Amino acid sequence: MAAPMLEVRGADVFYGASQILFGLDLSVERGQTMALLGRNGAGKSTTFKAIAGLAPPRRGEIRLAGVPVSGKAPYRIARAGIGYVPEDRQIFPEHTVEDNLIVGAKRGPRGEAHWTLTRIYEVFPLLAGMRTRMAGRLSGGEQQMLTIARALMGNPDILLLDEPSEGLAPIIVQAIGGLIRTMRGMGVTILLAEQNMHFCLDVATHATVVDKGQVVYCAPMAELRSNAAITQRFLAV
Ligand SMILES: Nc1ncnc2c1ncn2[C@@H]1O[C@H](COP(=O)(O)OP(=O)(O)O)[C@@H](O)[C@H]1O
Ligand SMILES: [Mg+2]
Repeated sequence: MAAPMLEVRGADVFYGASQILFGLDLSVERGQTMALLGRNGAGKSTTFKAIAGLAPPRRGEIRLAGVPVSGKAPYRIARAGIGYVPEDRQIFPEHTVEDNLIVGAKRGPRGEAHWTLTRIYEVFPLLAGMRTRMAGRLSGGEQQMLTIARALMGNPDILLLDEPSEGLAPIIVQAIGGLIRTMRGMGVTILLAEQNMHFCLDVATHATVVDKGQVVYCAPMAELRSNAAITQRFLAV
């Protein structure tokens, strides 16, 4: 059997002296959209930072398609095929939408150049109409789409999205959900951190629930949906 696209095994992560993740295990298979669910402060963003190399685990291992990446510098992890969209979108406000996209352009780990500007504008028609606009003038939802598109420009093997629905109006949240489903339909492997389980119900195929830095549940999304004990105990619904 092929190795999972992404595997986190027994990760202990600290900020200074305080331990945040305790032996965290997580696995994402090729083509899955895995929701990483948990309350505020559960450790979702820290898990992403660990994977991206910004908060390297003190113990444990992270593998991308079977190849260890833990301990590598963040830029090497990005080149190895992990596309990371952080919570605080980090666009370049004084540059155009198109320049923000171009900044993210690189070939994939095996030379793939699947995601070009043309293709991005097909999948994100909204951005096509704004290509010359300064990114700082976009709405929050448009900026979120821009950061997702910019990460795709790097032709990643897996895309990490940290709370893409946070702080956005319901109609924009729906649009972001639609986009994630489109990407899934195109075969993109996605790990999606969310507090909002309802957003994930129609978007994710699988769910991993974290609480206090540990995984407490992992199942197909449909099973989590019907598990009131878990949703009530670990998720704010
Ligand atoms: N830079 C930091 N230094 C110390 N503690 C932090 C830092 N960032 C987050 N934490 C703590 O780590 C825990 C997990 O945070 P985080 O991973 O951001 O959770 P989530 O993304 O699930 O809301 C929280 O208790 C938070 O206060
Ligand atoms: Mg977070």
